[in-house]
Amino acid sequence: MKTIQWYPGHMAKTSREIKAHLKNVDVVFELLDARAPLASRNPMMHEITKGKPRLIILMKADLAPHKVLTQWVTYFHNEFTRAITVDAKGGRGIENIVEKATELMRAKRERAQARGLKNRPIRAMILGIPNVGKSTLINRLVKRKATKVGDVPGVTKHLQTVRIHEELSLLDTPGVLWPKFEDPEVGKKLALLGAIRDPILALDDIAVYGIAWLLEHKHDALNAHYDISVVPSASIMDVFDAIGKRRGFLVAGGAIDYDRVIERFIHDFRHHKFGPIMLDVIP
Ligand code: G4P
Repeated sequence: MKTIQWYPGHMAKTSREIKAHLKNVDVVFELLDARAPLASRNPMMHEITKGKPRLIILMKADLAPHKVLTQWVTYFHNEFTRAITVDAKGGRGIENIVEKATELMRAKRERAQARGLKNRPIRAMILGIPNVGKSTLINRLVKRKATKVGDVPGVTKHLQTVRIHEELSLLDTPGVLWPKFEDPEVGKKLALLGAIRDPILALDDIAVYGIAWLLEHKHDALNAHYDISVVPSASIMDVFDAIGKRRGFLVAGGAIDYDRVIERFIHDFRHHKFGPIMLDVIP
């Protein structure tokens, strides 16, 4: 299996900028995809922002199994980290963001108050891979007309702090992936969820991965969606054939049009046709 590589030009620049801005923020909002909380964590950004209070926001919580998500929330919880689940599309869980961020800031704020300083809005840096739902979340959070707070002196103007809420200023950062997926499964999970654009990965690899995962974990959902009846021990080709036949994806002469099957399957996975999904396992 070839290693998946990803080299967007702006990544090194973004890393530098994030490092430079870090001292000006109180807390990092790390947005993860609730369906793959580990695979969707950018290890570079995670490393760069180590040492800051962190609020992990498990995005798209509506697309993951609720019960397992509560276990992930517990898994992430520690002295400097809180985790919450959010459905930014449906607007659920948004109000917990400021509350949890305030909780993470409590000690710092108490020290400031003891010195007679007034509380100012929490300054958060928002991190997340492409398509994780950053824009949707920011739009939900905006409680006042977003106003530019101003550039931080000495650093590039690319990143902006924006006061979006009476109690919250946000430093948005571009969604970035990282140079190399050490574990090829990570790339396949991100591709299945739609975080990686197609030309980077072979579509057949992604579909094979997705079908194998469904056969093992949710073969009923696979059968129900395509109105087929494959058993969990079926081969991937059996599934491709069953979908192709059922949908009439055939080439001239009547053979299965596998390209169409693959495209359709990936489209369906990305459009949540198989119910709640959890691709990662709590370590
Ligand atoms: P980004 O800025 O991080 O790149 O992501 P963006 O907000 O653009 O969201 C990417 C897609 O994810 C959007 O779907 C958005 O609606 C969806 N999304 C964001 N947050 C949530 C969530 O909490 N739950 C669910 N189910 N979806 C979420 P899209 O396919 O581009 O558009 P549409 O499906 O909304 O029409």
